[in-house]
Amino acid sequence: MSRMFGTLAIILLAVSIGPAQEARTATVAKNGMVVCVSPEAADVGVAILKKGGNATDASVAVAFAMAVTHPAAGNIGGGGFMMVAPKNGKPVMIDYRETAPKLCDKDTFAKTTSWFDQKAVGVPGTVRGLEFAHKKFGKLPWRELVEPAVKLAEEGFLLNKSTANSLNEYLKKPGGNEEFKRVFGKDGGKEPWKIGDRLTQPDLAKTLKLISEKGPDAFYTGPLAELLLAEIKAGEGYIRQDDLNDYKAVERETIKGVYRGFDIFGPSPPSSGGICIVQMLNMLENYDLKKMGADSADTRHLIAEVMRRSFADRAKYIGDPAFTKIPDFLTTKEHAKKLIESIDLKKVTPSESLADGIPIQDEAKSTTHFSVMDADGNAVSNTYTLEETYGSRVVVRGAGYILNNEMGDFNRVPGVTTRKGGVGTAPNLVAPGKRMLSSQTPVFVFKDGKLLLVTGSPGGRTIINTVLCVVLNVLDFEMDIQAAVNAPRQHHQWFPDQLAVEFTDQKLIDELTAKGHKIVKRRQGDAHSIWIDPKTGLYHGAADSRLAGKAAGY
Ligand code: DON
Repeated sequence: MSRMFGTLAIILLAVSIGPAQEARTATVAKNGMVVCVSPEAADVGVAILKKGGNATDASVAVAFAMAVTHPAAGNIGGGGFMMVAPKNGKPVMIDYRETAPKLCDKDTFAKTTSWFDQKAVGVPGTVRGLEFAHKKFGKLPWRELVEPAVKLAEEGFLLNKSTANSLNEYLKKPGGNEEFKRVFGKDGGKEPWKIGDRLTQPDLAKTLKLISEKGPDAFYTGPLAELLLAEIKAGEGYIRQDDLNDYKAVERETIKGVYRGFDIFGPSPPSSGGICIVQMLNMLENYDLKKMGADSADTRHLIAEVMRRSFADRAKYIGDPAFTKIPDFLTTKEHAKKLIESIDLKKVTPSESLADGIPIQDEAKSTTHFSVMDADGNAVSNTYTLEETYGSRVVVRGAGYILNNEMGDFNRVPGVTTRKGGVGTAPNLVAPGKRMLSSQTPVFVFKDGKLLLVTGSPGGRTIINTVLCVVLNVLDFEMDIQAAVNAPRQHHQWFPDQLAVEFTDQKLIDELTAKGHKIVKRRQGDAHSIWIDPKTGLYHGAADSRLAGKAAGY
């Protein structure tokens, strides 16, 4: 499909995916681009670029701003992964994933039934991660990067449809604490939010002001740490001051793969994203996808089979590298060749047959991604999260921010891997100080040493597959970036043995069903992306309209 035809076709198709999808075109700019789910935060990022900040400065400011304007996932109480591609330099990964409190071990959560309380909270990494990024790459003073978020919290911002609806939905759910309702409810939760209502967050403004003036340590020690520990204690949670003292963001080697001459850089463990994306591309390189067609049943089936195999390897081998020896062969071309030997283009491989000795038994969410580029060509691909939508739904009393429930990303019950998708394998069991396995996949794609694509997504385990879909749409199917983001996605994660799809074409669904797929329909991901035109160098920013989003360029 040519880029032009692809755009038209996909925009028309996109309209049929669901109510949240709308026709858009990419924003094109020369000097800078910020693409994220929150329009206010995108504007904050561009303002930082305009005053001389680089892509990392803008990213730090966007991350703090989204802790205010996108409370479902933007955060200071969670963690994530930032990939930085300095112009003419090698991409670097900053791991600011949460850690397990020292009081937790592999059996702590085996009987847990609710993940919406203080016990589910991992030691937050975001503030240390942003500090690390700023110290290594930033140009502007820290205070100037946090200040816009302080202002947004103090003065408030107007709720768009996506945020108003989301708050109304989650304020009604059980779990979390009363402070969540007090801070995020309209009139303490008495009334539903309407589009255009103003949300102000005075406690969060004070917290951010302290972080802005006193620096990142203010989050982990002193009065703010006391508020956090008091909140944890109120729910008999596990975090203690020494967990906060010992938390460190870590710089790591990225995972690199080569796919049809394109260089792919993804995050290394404790995220599974980089390994899985490279492994899936290595498998797909053995097929002529372009010839097979973007939307043929054979292509959709093949991609599902590749996803199934990679997710089986994810469960078998990947966890925090400080605790688990992860084999080197996972991203080799030879291993991919071995994995595809069992793919039958006519019918599914039952997931159970890939279990390789793992006993299989019977038996939600929120993250956000943003992509940033500055005038010099430095780029940031950042995904961060509270785990589920609004995390644990516990707000730190007096500090106004939401705590993650990331402990749920560990394998919860040792030895119990279920047909429903629960994983109980050894590499990702809880241990004191360990980082839980993630699927966050902020990536860069380069061609001949030049950056071509910056992308990533939320969506739990669907993240890796959303990123795969976007990458294939750009590299194999030659869609323009907006079309690539809009196009219907698919997801297979080994167990449950089913294929989730966004497309509605009944003929395609029938053909896939005939090959043995159990099809479920589900919306997937939120991939705010930038494509850099190799001919002109212009930045094409594509916001994903599955939630809200804005591509702000200048
Ligand atoms: O790190 C992870 O893989 C998960 N905690 C991400 C959760 C997520 O993406 C939920 N969002 N939509």
